Parts: sequence; structure tokens; C-alpha cells
Amino acid sequence: MRHAYITGSAGFIGFYLSELLLQEGWSVTVLDGLTDYYDVRLKQRRLQMLGQHENFHSITAMLEDEAAVMESVAQAKPDVIVHLAAQAGVRYSLENPRAYIESNVLGTFNLMEAARVHGVAHLMMASTSSVYGANTQMTFHRSSRKKGYGILSRAGGPDTIC
Ligand SMILES: NC(=O)c1ccc[n+]([C@@H]2O[C@H](COP(=O)([O-])OP(=O)(O)OC[C@H]3O[C@@H](n4cnc5c(N)ncnc54)[C@H](O)[C@@H]3O)[C@@H](O)[C@H]2O)c1
Repeated sequence: MRHAYITGSAGFIGFYLSELLLQEGWSVTVLDGLTDYYDVRLKQRRLQMLGQHENFHSITAMLEDEAAVMESVAQAKPDVIVHLAAQAGVRYSLENPRAYIESNVLGTFNLMEAARVHGVAHLMMASTSSVYGANTQMTFHRSSRKKGYGILSRAGGPDTIC
């Protein structure tokens, strides 16, 4: 049975991906810190729904918790990591920029380190629509010039599939 380790599964995209993979017979381990960026009850409800599946394992922890990330990846031994946990949104970065550095930069680093140390073959992470900003050049390419709100996106949200 293939095993996916998904971050941010209490969130919008992570929930649907987890549900799909579970339905397709994968075993799924998720890590989500249930942040209060929006209503936590919605996130709890999503995890409850995923919990109906037999091969579902949930860890409530923040990506910034290096030990929790390292240990959970070691235990899960996943075939693939899909990284969807993030401090999303643009306007909130003006109010609380630290949340972006901690979640998206430090948190992503912790996850990539765990993948490296434990030899996970594949790590896929979500980028953000903010990466491309006011770029008008089509089609988008990794080398395209990025404008506007791009520093955090490049640091913590590269369009990376390794
Ligand atoms: N929803 C969209 O339209 C959209 C568009 C483009 C890109 N994206 C990207 O896709 C990813 C997921 O988006 P979403 O809409 O599902 O977001 P979401 O906010 O619904 O879900 C993110 C989840 O990550 C968790 N989380 C946040 N910070 C964390 C941390 N430090 N440690 C542990 N868990 C943490 C939250 O609790 C939440 O459940 C983000 O990177 C986002 O930028 C989303």
C-alpha cells in the first residue's frame, strides 16, 4: 500500500487531496497545527471526516516543531510528502508577517530536512498564486520574472516538485 504524508489536511486543499487518496486505497498520515487563521471548527470537522477511513493517521503539530516533524516522518516512512500546510493569504502578511516566516520558511525547511534525513523519494509542495503577481508573460515558467509580493513565495513556496 502506498503511503502519503500530507501537511495541511485540515485545510481546504489538503482535505480534498487526503480524501481522494484514501478513497484510492492509499494510507495517509497528516500533520496540521489547526491554526486559527479561520474557524478551527471547520478544520476539526474535516479531520473527523478523514478519520472515518481506516488507514488515516493524524498528528496535530506545528511545522515549526522540528522534533514533531522529524519523528512523524520517521514513523510514517512515506513514499511521498505533499506539503500543503501554510500561512496563506496576502493581506494578513501586513498584519502578522512573522506567521509567514515561521510557517512557510522555517516550517518548510523542517519538512525538507525530515525528507532528506529519512530518504523520502518525493516531496511536492504547493506554490501560491502570489508568486506570479503582476507577471503578464504567458505561459508561466520557472525562470519567468516575478513581481510584487514575491519574496516569501520564493523563499517558502517555490514551484517545486522534486
Ligand atoms: N486555496 C487556494 O485557492 C490556493 C491558491 C493558490 C495556492 N494555494 C496554496 O495551497 C496551500 C494550501 O492552501 P489552502 O487553501 O488549503 O489553505 P488553508 O489555510 O485552508 O489550509 C492550510 C492548513 O495548514 C495549516 N497550517 C498553517 N500553518 C501551519 C503550521 N505552521 N504548521 C502546521 N499546520 C499549519 C492550517 O491549520 C490549515 O489547516 C497554501 O500553500 C496556499 O498558498 C491555495
